Amino acid sequence: MRAGRIPNMTLSRILRSHFVLLIAAALSLPVTANAHDGHKNDMSDAEMAQMEMHGAPSAVREPSTVGIAEPASATATTPLTAERALEAKIAENRITSAGDLFGRLHPIAAHFPIALLLMAAIAEFFLFMRPAWGLETTVRFLVSGGALGAASAAVFGWFAGGWRLEDRSETLALHRWNGTAIAAVAIVATWLAFRPGSRMALRFVIAVLAVALVIQGYHGGEMVFGPNHLGLE
Ligand code: HEM
Repeated sequence: MRAGRIPNMTLSRILRSHFVLLIAAALSLPVTANAHDGHKNDMSDAEMAQMEMHGAPSAVREPSTVGIAEPASATATTPLTAERALEAKIAENRITSAGDLFGRLHPIAAHFPIALLLMAAIAEFFLFMRPAWGLETTVRFLVSGGALGAASAAVFGWFAGGWRLEDRSETLALHRWNGTAIAAVAIVATWLAFRPGSRMALRFVIAVLAVALVIQGYHGGEMVFGPNHLGLE
């Protein structure tokens, strides 16, 4: 054997151990993917919690998910099962339609209105405290960008949560209508930000939006990471 060359046996062992680590990481994700299906399938909060703890109930479990929820320790000793589980997971996550893709874009879009409109509230507060700083244009920029983000997040959200007016999940219902209202109010805020004259109405609307967005982000987190995700209860 030449110096510096890794023997074939050792190389395959290293590759196998990395592969097992990859599988363990992939298997830590199904809660998120299953929750996503649960929101689309109009499951209640209690059913969703049950699914996250014990796997999908048979009524909503798709055939391709069978075997995926095995504990990482079990797959570590059976790389073939792990390989099949990874393939099944990749197949299960494949985009099925344009609507499916739009729904998956919701988490990306959601962070824009939260960041931009909260920054708009901070900028407006500074403008109130220090008018000489001349932050009017900054506020206009942040509010209009935030409104655009809120409108896209809301549309993608409807694709993510399903097109219906009533939800069995209380969290999803609150999130759906709060989010839709945020998008509408943010558009009104943009009009107010560009309107000359008193800033009273704009300040009130931006303050309401800031509170609504914190609640919205919290409920989004509850749906993705599970009940009591901040550990406050
Ligand atoms: C301004 C509007 C909205 C904001 C800022 C927002 C924010 C969020 C956030 C932060 C999350 C968690 C994402 C993550 O951490 O991965 C989330 C998840 C979610 N949102 Fe929204 N949302 C909005 C509107 C909506 C609307 C109108 C719906 C319609 C039902 C909706 C449905 C959902 C669903 C179903 C999830 C869970 C994702 C999943 O199951 O894959 N959202 N949202």
